Order: sequence, then structure tokens, then C-alpha cells
Amino acid sequence: MLRAIYPGSFDPVTYGHLDIMERSSKIVDELVVGVLNNNAKMPLFSVEERVKMLKEVTAEFDNILIVPFNGLLVDFAKKMEAELIIRGLRAITDFEYELQMSQTNHKLCPGVETMFLTTSIEYSYLSSTTVKEIAAFGGDTSQFVPEVVRKGLKEKMKVKRSV
Ligand code: PNS
Repeated sequence: MLRAIYPGSFDPVTYGHLDIMERSSKIVDELVVGVLNNNAKMPLFSVEERVKMLKEVTAEFDNILIVPFNGLLVDFAKKMEAELIIRGLRAITDFEYELQMSQTNHKLCPGVETMFLTTSIEYSYLSSTTVKEIAAFGGDTSQFVPEVVRKGLKEKMKVKRSV
């Protein structure tokens, strides 16, 4: 059985992430979406909120599991008994960071490989950071994120404006 980890911050999950999840869930037997729980990154959504949204938007896939993690990704992979890490590559600008991360992870744990899926063209420009910026200025994010995330962003921005 091939189990893979698709790790990320998912702050918040976008259609670009979902595209990678859907495609990789067809390649592997089980896909564990690892949600980074690291407050040092100052996420907009708490890990509980991110997990909840991810569970909702992946409910239709029976081989996708949403699990929060902290610490090293390779330790999480070992704990989950996963041999593969999946990452999405959008543009060449992603490559340097991803190469460094995959090589470091391979040094730390040679038994775990990283596989890259190139993002579908329609999502190649998309990032959680730009989605948050659009939401912060009251823009419409419905092309970029599922409904539950759009609602979550609206709520967060309302709270932010009121403080
Ligand atoms: O969605 P992101 O923020 O690009 O995801 C980055 C993530 C979570 C994959 C990366 O920060 C990570 O693996 N963090 C865990 C800590 C770790 O293992 N660091 C060493 C990797 S070089």
C-alpha cells in the first residue's frame, strides 16, 4: 500500500491545493494531508479551523485523511508510515525552495522520497497569500477558494476590521 503525505500550511486551502490533492489521491492508495501547526508562522486561521475546512472540502474523497502535525515533516512521515511526500510546483520561483526542502528531507530520512506535481495551468498564479490579500481588501475570492473558505475569510476580515 502506498501512503503519501501532502504537507502544507493551508492558510487557507485554495483550489490549487485541492487540484493537487485530487490528482495525487488517484496515484496513491492513501493521501494524508499534513497541516502544519506552527504558530511562529502567525497563521490567519488556527490549525483547528484549517483542519475543519480541509475536512469539509475533501469529504467526497475516501482515501484522503486530514492530520495536523508539528515538528519535522520527515518525523511526521515516519509516524504515519508514509514513504512519499507530495508537493505542488507552480512556477520556477517555487523550485529553489522545494529542491532544498526535498534534498534536506532526503538527507534526514533517505527512506522518504519527494514527488512533485506541477500545478494545473488555471491555478499556477494562485497562492494562499494573495487570496488573503484580496480578502483583506474586500475583494471577491470565490474563483480561488471553496465557499466554506470564502465565508471563513469574510468572518476573519470582519473581526480584524473591528479591532
Ligand atoms: O504550505 P507551505 O507553507 O509551503 O508548507 C511548508 C511545509 C509545511 C511543507 C514546511 O514548512 C515543512 O515541512 N515544515 C515542517 C518543518 C520541517 O520539516 N522543516 C525542514 C524541511 S527542510
